Order: sequence, then structure tokens, then C-alpha cells
Amino acid sequence: MHTLTIIPGQLVIQVPARARLHEVLDQHGIAVTAYCDGMGTCGKCVVRVTCAGGGVAPVSDADRQHLHEDELARGLRLACQWRVVCDATIEIPARSRMEHMQVQGKGDQQGPRTPRPAVAGIRQYGMAIDLGSTTVVGSLLDLESGQVLAVASGLNQQRRFGADVISRINHALQADGLAELHVALVATLDDIVARACAEAQVRVDQLHELVLTGNTVMLHSMQRAPLDTLAVLPFTPVISAAHRTSAAALGLACPAHVMAYTFPIIGGFVGGDTVSCMLATDMDERDDCHMIIDIGTNGEVALGSRAGWVTASAPAGPAFEGARISCGMPGAPGAIEHVAFTAAGVTLDVIDETTPLGVCGTGLIDAVAALLDAGVVDETGRLVAPEEVPDAAPAWLRARIVERNGAPAFVLFDPQTDAYEHTAEARPLYLTQRDIRELQLAKAAIAAACELLLRTRGLTWDDVTFVYLAGAFGNYLRPATAQRIGLLPPLPLARIAFIGNAASAGARRALVSGDDRRRAERIAREAAHIELAADTAFQQCYADHLLFVGRT
Ligand code: FES
Repeated sequence: MHTLTIIPGQLVIQVPARARLHEVLDQHGIAVTAYCDGMGTCGKCVVRVTCAGGGVAPVSDADRQHLHEDELARGLRLACQWRVVCDATIEIPARSRMEHMQVQGKGDQQGPRTPRPAVAGIRQYGMAIDLGSTTVVGSLLDLESGQVLAVASGLNQQRRFGADVISRINHALQADGLAELHVALVATLDDIVARACAEAQVRVDQLHELVLTGNTVMLHSMQRAPLDTLAVLPFTPVISAAHRTSAAALGLACPAHVMAYTFPIIGGFVGGDTVSCMLATDMDERDDCHMIIDIGTNGEVALGSRAGWVTASAPAGPAFEGARISCGMPGAPGAIEHVAFTAAGVTLDVIDETTPLGVCGTGLIDAVAALLDAGVVDETGRLVAPEEVPDAAPAWLRARIVERNGAPAFVLFDPQTDAYEHTAEARPLYLTQRDIRELQLAKAAIAAACELLLRTRGLTWDDVTFVYLAGAFGNYLRPATAQRIGLLPPLPLARIAFIGNAASAGARRALVSGDDRRRAERIAREAAHIELAADTAFQQCYADHLLFVGRT
């Protein structure tokens, strides 16, 4: 056995020799960022290991691949790769702590428009819950008045099995993987239900019903449905219809009378959350055409009007979540969320105004847009050499183009010269050529999906009245820079609207209104779904959108 002291918290634990550190931390409820479910490929589960007695913690190949020499020298290691071989102090840097991530979705507390009629003598409560891959948000409503009494949210405990739905599916394919996903999701929900009830001073046994929406993978793991078919083309869901059962049957800690309604799925990775967004925006009742874009690892796009809808999910990959970006991190304290260039230098907006620890998706988009404007990145996505930078560019811009591991990189933050509070964690942050390529791939997937849906309906952007940006990421996006890199369409900014957590709003409607529930089921039944991965036109469209052509 070895003794580990975990910082922060000064937790002292006894651990069997050669236990994997990532699993040890997990077992003690200490969640570190683990985008790749411990495969050693994402490089995000960084911890600092200080061996007792001054020994040096062994370094793995994956450590060398993801960490710089100076970081290795400071004892930084990947938690998923390090086996406990000595007594040690384990320090978890802020950039690796999952509990620091921004939990979003609390903003909209409006109740739905048509509250359920009162049941004589009984006060009825219910919860509408959006099962996001990252964040789960639950709203507790008085079903009689339709009023939102409390909102509770929390990080999805499934995150320890990987950041995106693909990692979750891969985990489900392992022995006991599906059961582990289910247990983690149930634990997340039980906690949210308990907290919302406590806040509203409602007992859990006073709940009448839970309405659960979410993406295809979340709705499957909630219902313990196998995920195997979502691992291979044509990504056919095992379940697609709405389902109503007791919450206890889903494993939730609710009395037997509490019912649970799960949203229907449209097809492939276009799940119940897209249905609830469509419901919340009344897309199915409008004569003019609207588009909803939910930007994420699997970006979902829906286009249509009263005349019909078409949907697709775009395999954008995790770049927008900061994964596969060398200095990427989620939207947590220390993440650079916005970037602008001025004549004097780089201006960074950092979450919680602390030392920059990494860049999240919105910061990455801003940075690349600024580099495009400055001529430091060309239309093909190439980071140019200092001598190729336009003559009019300021000298500081050229000086920030450096060589990093034999390839060009741009210094986004240098703790030696940039004016931010220095901490022990401060390190230079670089945008590498590979990071820019990752963003190109991600934005091309979303943009191509949007265009393909338009083409499918024989429409152009002129025919689209509004583009709605759904989801947490959309809330923080700057449409102008997103247009500059070609992620968002070339519409006037006044025709691009943020709708926040519309999935939650749609679930609230379905909680209190039978009509809206039937509408949701009709949307799911009637909406067309295009499987882009099997569509040859998408491949060409995707290739066309890889270029960073200005779309402002
Ligand atoms: S590298 Fe450790 S979880 Fe990804």
C-alpha cells in the first residue's frame, strides 16, 4: 500500500501499489478532466506528482507526448497513465478539475405557456430535465400554475468516461460499461432532483412526473438501452419512441407513483433535445423557415417550417470543448474565452479573470478569426512564417510566431511578458498548426451540415428568417468571429439569435401540456433525418467548407 495526499483538500488515502491514479481519484469522488476515458490520447487529466523522499515519478510515453519537458520536470503527469509506485502528494491543477467547469443553463426560469389544469385538492409538482452530455439541468415546476419553483444543475457524472458521446458509446461497449453509464447518470439525476426539491421546499414524494429530454446517447443510457448500433453506420438507435414508465423503473430514487416520460428521438444522433428545441421555438407552427444549430461534439441542425423539417447531426469532434487542442480546456476558471488583437498586443478575456490556463472553444474561434484578419493564418488554415506576415502588421504579431516541436505556433499567452497575475501554474500557451486544423475540421462539419440541409430543401440562406443558436456553447459564441471562420452562415447578425437552453424549455412545455407532448411526438415522427456520414454530397460539401473563407 502507498499513502497519497491529495491537494486541494488535503485528503490522505491508502492505495494499493500499482493502482491507476485516475481510477483512485475517481473512486474517491475526485473528478479530473478525462476527455478520452483514460486512453492517454487527450492529454487533459494532468496532475502534479511529488514523490515522498524526493524520487521522480516515472514518465510514460503518453506523458512525453502531451507534456513539455519543463512540465515533466515539475512533476506533471497524466493521471490515467500513472500507476501508484510510491507515497506521493498529488496536486490537481485548476485546469484539470471538473468541478470548476461552468455549469450553465440556469438562466431561463420562465414557465411554459399552458399549465396543466388543477387536480382538485392535490398540489402537483414535476420536473423537466435536460440530460446534457456535459451538464444536466432540472427545473421543478408547479404543474398547476406552470411556475418554475427551482432550477438545479450539475455536471453529468458520466463525464469521467469521456467528454463526448463517442467516448460514452465506446465505454458502453466494455464489460459493465452500459451499467456504469446508467449508474452515473442516475446518480447525477438523483442529486439534481433532491437539490431542486430542497430549494423549492417540495418533498420528492410530492412529485408527480419527470420529463427527460437529451441526446440519443443520454436517452439510451437512461433507459439502459444498448448503444452498440450507435457505434457503427448507419447509427440506428435501438429506441426512438417516447416512453412513459415509473421513475423507479429507470433506477431513480423516487417513490413508485412518480412517473418518468422520456422524449422521442428523431434518428441517428438527432435526439430528444433537438425535438424539445424545435418545440420551444415553435418551429413546427411557423410558416417561414428557421434553422436551429446546436454546436457541440455532435452538432445538431434542424431546418424547417410548418411545411416540414429536416435534421442532421454533424460529427464536429470535441474541438469546441477544448479537447484535441494542445492548450485546450473546458469553459472553466482560467480558460481564455475571448481573444482580440489590438495595436498594442493580444487582449484576453479569462473566465474568473485569473491566470490564463488554457483556451476554451469560444476563445479558440476568436483567436483564429483574429489571426485570419491579421494575415497570420491564411485561407487554407496555414500558419504563415514571420516573414510572410503583411508588412502593415505590428512587430509584436511577428514576434509571437515561433517554432514549437518543429512546427509553427502562435504564442497566445506568455507569462513572462503578458500582464496577468502569475501563479505557479502559469505556462506559455501556444496555438499550434494542428490546433488550427482541428478547428477547421470541426467548423467544416457544422457548416457543411447546415448547407446540406438547405440544399435538401432547395433553399438558400435568403429563405431562412432566423438561425437559432441553442445550447450552452452557443450562448458564449461571438457570431461575428464565428462567421469569420465560416462556422456560422453569412446572415445579418440581427437574424442570428441565441435561445439558450431551449431543450430545457421544450421539456417544461411537455411536462405541463399534453398538447405539447403530442406535438413533440409528431415532430419526432415526421421530421426527416439525414445520416451525413453515409451521404456522399456531404463529403464534398465538408471539403469545400474546410477553407477559412470570410463569410461576414
Ligand atoms: S489522457 Fe488521461 S484521460 Fe485522456
